[in-house]
This record gives sequence, structure tokens and C-alpha cells, in this order.
Amino acid sequence: MHTLTTNNGLALPAVGLGTWPMTGTACTQAVVQALELGYRHIDTATAYENEADVGAALRTSNVPREQIHLTTKVWWDSLSPKAMRQSLEASLRALGTEHVDLFHIHWPGKDWDLARSIETLVALREEGKARHIGVANFPLGLLRQVIETLGAPLSAIQVEYHVLLGQQALLDYARSNDLLLTAYTPLARGQAAAEPAIQAIARKHGVLPSQVALKWLLDQDGVAVIPKASSRENQLANLGSLQVQLDDEDRAAIAALPKDQRVVSPAFAPDWNS
Ligand SMILES: NC(=O)c1ccc[n+]([C@@H]2O[C@H](COP(=O)([O-])OP(=O)(O)OC[C@H]3O[C@@H](n4cnc5c(N)ncnc54)[C@H](OP(=O)(O)O)[C@@H]3O)[C@@H](O)[C@H]2O)c1
Repeated sequence: MHTLTTNNGLALPAVGLGTWPMTGTACTQAVVQALELGYRHIDTATAYENEADVGAALRTSNVPREQIHLTTKVWWDSLSPKAMRQSLEASLRALGTEHVDLFHIHWPGKDWDLARSIETLVALREEGKARHIGVANFPLGLLRQVIETLGAPLSAIQVEYHVLLGQQALLDYARSNDLLLTAYTPLARGQAAAEPAIQAIARKHGVLPSQVALKWLLDQDGVAVIPKASSRENQLANLGSLQVQLDDEDRAAIAALPKDQRVVSPAFAPDWNS
């Protein structure tokens, strides 16, 4: 498995398994199967209500815990120091582990004390409950504040990114600050594979449209992907995207697609341009 790294020691397998919206036995079975197929990066969150199911998979699987990168996240209504700490401790209990490899603030808070939340995030890292810390769904301005004003030692950011949504400014900033970028909803929930241009590239190389969409992301320095897939077939196909070869003509065709098709923008989302 191809693994991305940062200077401060984060090792993030480039293809991970997204677990939302799987819960219960279906989630446990999908994670066990993914680990058998070679996945070593699992993405969960308190809000997905499946951490106990992911934990059951970790216990069932023969893969040692230290070989698995585990990401979880704290929800945006739990960003006071006390609530953040309780949230991570509950995640660790549900997952059955003493630490997570990466702990993200899932979304920016509302009327919150940013500095205190970030201070708590950093403290949880220093205590070893989270080996690395990051933020998800932070627009560039807020990310800059966290890094430049508050000096937080982040290792990664997680944002929606796919062939129909550009993230160049965040990606440039991440690269110049030694952060990895995890692309969530990397298949645009099927919309990427439905694009005729993506289908034409897939036909040309004899691969799947979903694999073209993932490889376009994986070819970019510092970008990991976490497609959610429940079936063995889709999990294997997504891992196999690492072997797909795209050429300049393919990249030009993908560059010409619209880059403003955001799939995930709930009512509590920040102003994406702030
Ligand atoms: N940080 C955040 O705020 C945030 C927000 C959204 C998502 N996420 C994370 O990102 C993960 C992925 O995002 P997502 O679930 O929104 O969207 P996605 O990964 O773009 O799309 C998932 C859909 O694609 C299908 N699929 C997967 N592999 C396929 C393949 N090879 N061929 C055809 N279809 C395929 C899946 O079906 P099957 O299950 O049937 O295989 C599922 O219906 C989530 O699970 C979650 O972990 C994070």
C-alpha cells in the first residue's frame, strides 16, 4: 500500500476506507473485509455512530492494531475543552484502542472559542490520545489562523475533493505547511463516474470510471482518498485505482470539467470562501 508521510511522522496510507453511512454488523463486516483485502486506513467519526462497529472489526481482524491507521473526528457541537476531551475518550472506548492515529475537528464550531478548542486539540496530541491532529471542512482563512496565529502542529486536513470540485488553494497551502490532504467523497457519490469525459478515459485504459476519478486525486502530491465502499468488488476496485496510469491528455480532459460541484454542504457549513 502506498503511504503518504509528513515530516512530523504521520504515515497515511493513500487509499483508506470511508465508513459513513455504514453502521452495525454491515459496517463491521465491511471493515473486516477491507482489512483482509489490504486496506490499512479506516476513517470514522463520532457523528457516524459506528465507532463501536469499527472497533468490533478491529478486534475481529487478524491485522495488528499498529499496522492500521485510524482516523476519528469530534462533532462541531462538542468543541469546548471538556466536551472535546469527553468525545475523544468515548471514541477510544468505542474503538477499543488507546489512541487514534489522527483526530480531526469535524467542522468549525458556531460562536466558539477557536483558540481554546485548538489548545485542547494540541493537548490531546501531547497526551498521546491522538498521535496526530487535523481539521476537516475548514476554509483556507480559518486554517491559516489555526496554523499561523495559533501555531497548531496540524498534520492533515480533510475536505471534499474530487474531479468535479477544485481545492487548489487549500492544496497549495497544505503542501507548503507539511499537511496531507484527505479527499472525502472522492467519487462525488457516483457523479464522477457518471461524467462522459471520465467514462471515455476509463474506456481508453480498460479500467473503471471510479478508478479514473480516484487516480486523478492520488496522482497529486500529498493527497489521500477515503472512498466508502461496502462490497468486496468496489473495495478491491478502489484499491486497484493505485495501478491506473493517466496521461497528459486525460489530465487535460479532467481539468476541463466543472470544479464547483460541491456535494456536501449542510446548513452548519462555513462560508467556503472565508
Ligand atoms: N469530513 C467530512 O465532513 C466527511 C463528509 C462526508 C464523507 N466523509 C468521509 O468520506 C467517506 C466517503 O465519502 P462518501 O461516502 O460521501 O462518498 P463517496 O466515497 O464519493 O461515494 C460512496 C458511494 O460510491 C459507491 N462506490 C464506492 N466504490 C465504488 C466503485 N468502485 N464503483 C462504483 N461505486 C462505488 C459506494 O457504494 P457501495 O457502498 O455500494 O460500494 C457509495 O454509494 C465517507 O464514508 C466518510 O468516511 C467525510
